[in-house]
Amino acid sequence: MMTGCRIILLMKVLRTAGTALAWARKAPRPLVLVPTMGALHRGHAELIRKARKTAGPKGSVVVSIFVNPAQFGPKEDLSRYPRPFAEDKKLCTQLGVDMIFHPAPADMYAADHSVYVVEEQLGGALCGKSRPGHFRGVCTVVAKLFNIVQPDAAIFGRKDFQQLTIIQRMVSDLNFPVKIVPVEIVRESDGLALSSRNQYLNAEERVQATVLRAALLEAKSAPKGAKPERLREMVMRKIATSALAKIDYVEVVDAENLQPATPRTRKRLVAVAVFLGRTRLIDNLLLS
Ligand code: PAJ
Repeated sequence: MMTGCRIILLMKVLRTAGTALAWARKAPRPLVLVPTMGALHRGHAELIRKARKTAGPKGSVVVSIFVNPAQFGPKEDLSRYPRPFAEDKKLCTQLGVDMIFHPAPADMYAADHSVYVVEEQLGGALCGKSRPGHFRGVCTVVAKLFNIVQPDAAIFGRKDFQQLTIIQRMVSDLNFPVKIVPVEIVRESDGLALSSRNQYLNAEERVQATVLRAALLEAKSAPKGAKPERLREMVMRKIATSALAKIDYVEVVDAENLQPATPRTRKRLVAVAVFLGRTRLIDNLLLS
């Protein structure tokens, strides 16, 4: 008897904007997109599971895998960013993805590409300060992905809290008809947030990388009325206990607008970026 069975169709891998748009126009709705740069780990898997749930048994799930040159600075890790496509494809198949969009850089950025999406308030704080142009690259590629894949919803992780906030603002300000669905940070058992960049760490750096989470938990254990500057000092002091960790930034901000928190801020976000060797890791914690 066939009732109740989901018809399993082979997962598609499409490599051009034209073929992906044609596919998306015919795909069963709702269509849910998970934008990624690949090197998929359990964090991404959680986003894909959320996408599958959001799409329901009849809808469609698309994962984009594209290491976006526009969001990397000239001295960053674009060329060495991991690209294990065969493994990523296997994971997507296991998680019931319907289509992987995996374009080549030349298909996303023509030689004369000259239009970018720039968010002008939230992008100046936190990672935007140390990575100028990064969120311009992120917003541009996400806007392009939305136009190519035409999703009803898109899933983003809270690990990149500022990215999520900026994309929410972009969707609202530019009227993209896309619902943004956030997913909590997925961590290793010792607290390190999963990241495609964790694989750059050598054994000693990997051990010391746990200091990011440990430092954030210091802020959580602080008395309720602690001033933002006091929280910041506690976090910085904890990070300084790791010989290999070099602080890029430690900030306590208002989670709504990413501006420095005041004693009256209700929803405070503690955000950190730390180098371990050449690897830059980020993490954050919401204090309500
Ligand atoms: P990437 O770093 O591959 O991350 C893709 C998505 O996975 C992002 O929404 C990110 O927040 C989420 N993610 C990564 N690690 C996570 C973790 N440990 N727990 C929960 N979610 C996690 O972010 C990007 O790619 C790019 O900037 C992109 C949005 C694809 C634009 O190029």
